[in-house]
Amino acid sequence: MSVTTLNEFIIQRQADFPYAKGELTRLLTHIGVAAKVVNREVNKAGLVDILGDAGTDNVQGERQKKLDIYADEKFIASLKASGECCGIASEEDQNIVTFDEDLPRQGKYILSMDPLDGSSNIDVNVSIGTIFSIFRRVSPVGHKASMEDFLQEGTKQVAAGYIIYGSSTMMVYTTGRGVNGFTLDPSIGEFCLSHPDIITPHSGIIYSINEGNYIKFPEGVKKYIKYCQEKDIPTGRPYTSRYIGSLVADFHRNLLKGGIFIYPKTAGYSSGKLRLLYECNPMAFVIEQAGGKGTDGRGNRIMDLKPESLHQRVPFYVGSRNMINKAEEFMTEFGDQEPDIKDFQ
Ligand code: AHG
Ligand code: MN
Ligand code: MN
Repeated sequence: MSVTTLNEFIIQRQADFPYAKGELTRLLTHIGVAAKVVNREVNKAGLVDILGDAGTDNVQGERQKKLDIYADEKFIASLKASGECCGIASEEDQNIVTFDEDLPRQGKYILSMDPLDGSSNIDVNVSIGTIFSIFRRVSPVGHKASMEDFLQEGTKQVAAGYIIYGSSTMMVYTTGRGVNGFTLDPSIGEFCLSHPDIITPHSGIIYSINEGNYIKFPEGVKKYIKYCQEKDIPTGRPYTSRYIGSLVADFHRNLLKGGIFIYPKTAGYSSGKLRLLYECNPMAFVIEQAGGKGTDGRGNRIMDLKPESLHQRVPFYVGSRNMINKAEEFMTEFGDQEPDIKDFQ
């Protein structure tokens, strides 16, 4: 069976873009290179000093892991070297990263990323990932990237995807013409097409949510969880609960098998936990291209939301379209107002 590598696939599909002169091709290729570098460290984690805390906090006030910072640095270096990316927004950096050198300033694209998603799972050998979202810049070529480049609606993404460092390492991405998955073949060091034209089932029997937060959920979420747990053979209920704690891993399983992932508002987090720019928008682009839905639980398409700030959070409901629609019925009927945090202090 002939193998199609990521680079061959990108070049074959380059013809999809009338204006493409290889720029997006080069950018995606450099993402693949950085992914292989990070994958190498992820696979050695435990043998080299890459586990554990870095002793610093990120802009979100979250403890940074050494691998968070390592991945951030490797992706920034590779994207800068591509010459196609004029700026980067990263979960690990408070402000946008821009470049002074002329080559990257000529870049026509910007990228938002979560360099290492699922950090809490790094030290316990559970699947983690990288998430990326690519836009064409709106600021003039040759200048520094500006904040307006990054605060575009998700519908303006030109490409988005993720790498999952799991039982195998895969890169899954879309450029708006379907979703394709590539598995890294370590024997040749290439990502090879393994999951062409991924379509997510319209219904599923998996629900993913951190039920440890149950008492802090809005009433609609509580009622939907109980709905998932009721016995109803025709709809496949009770559903199976699967929650890994790495968005990339929970998302990827549900993408392939069908399911719903919810990170809702909770008492104290009225916008939920996940970040719009580099977690929700890219995953929403992928799921929509695979035939699913990504919303805020109140019928608002994630990709229609106008970002106001780099690290802004948003409630996230993503997965099989029939399951999202059902969950939103519960939010409408029983409300999505989270309980008051004072009830828990
Ligand atoms: P990150 O490690 O990049 O901060 O992301 C972690 C996110 C996401 O990957 C996951 O779905 C969610 O945090 C899990 O949060 P809880 O532990 O609160 O359930
Ligand atoms: Mn994350
Ligand atoms: Mn992260």
